[in-house]
Amino acid sequence: MSIIKVEQLKRRFIQGKNELKILTGIDFEVSAGEQVAIIGASGSGKSTLLHLLGGLDKPTSGKVVISGTDLSTMNEAERARLRNKALGFVYQFHHLLPEFTAVENVAMPLLIGKIDSITAQQKATELLEAVGLGSRLTHKPAELSGGERQRTAIARAMATNPQCVLADEPTGNLDQKTAAEVFELMKQTNQKLNSSLVIVTHDLDIAKQMQKGYILNNGQLERDW
Ligand SMILES: Nc1ncnc2c1ncn2[C@@H]1O[C@H](COP(=O)(O)OP(=O)(O)O)[C@@H](O)[C@H]1O
Ligand SMILES: [Mg+2]
Repeated sequence: MSIIKVEQLKRRFIQGKNELKILTGIDFEVSAGEQVAIIGASGSGKSTLLHLLGGLDKPTSGKVVISGTDLSTMNEAERARLRNKALGFVYQFHHLLPEFTAVENVAMPLLIGKIDSITAQQKATELLEAVGLGSRLTHKPAELSGGERQRTAIARAMATNPQCVLADEPTGNLDQKTAAEVFELMKQTNQKLNSSLVIVTHDLDIAKQMQKGYILNNGQLERDW
């Protein structure tokens, strides 16, 4: 079964008198364990597409099905629960909570999923150790380097053992060497936990390391490799 299935997905925005047709009919599927890159110029609609895949935005028309469930049949609370259980998110800017330590940030999705706090802390600690941050557990985001923050964000995305991780320019904010390291880590962590990975990027070097590549152009998604 597909983890993500999208049918004739369209999204337009009304801005003043203008209608912006950003996605004009996208068909797309991600199977279990698959690693997929979506590339496209800035403004081509990559983030818009990823938000729709994650149920963070609603399509103008068309369908998003996650693990067999059509998102449009769910209410907001059900969608939030599915997001928490089935999906992990990594953004260009880490979106870690500044007042909380690395462990607390990684434990957050587990606590939201009603896991008890001791188990959540243990799991968060293991995940941070796995991304090489065992000695940064009680650091707050401001006390971490850019690469360490992204590694923390990756650990957080993996906390609930999601079926699929959605990553929006996860290395876009890092220097080249750190970007390559963070990307490699993300790929390996996903493989180890057998989770699918959809990564949106304009970095072709990074994209090419994924099994499948799509290009988003003029509102359409085309298979490139
Ligand atoms: N909420 C919104 N309202 C109006 N226009 C939007 C909105 N979100 C995105 N857009 C427009 O849609 C286009 C694609 O945006 P985005 O998906 O962020 O592109 P990308 O991530 O590929 O750079 C941009 O031109 C942007 O201005
Ligand atoms: Mg974007």
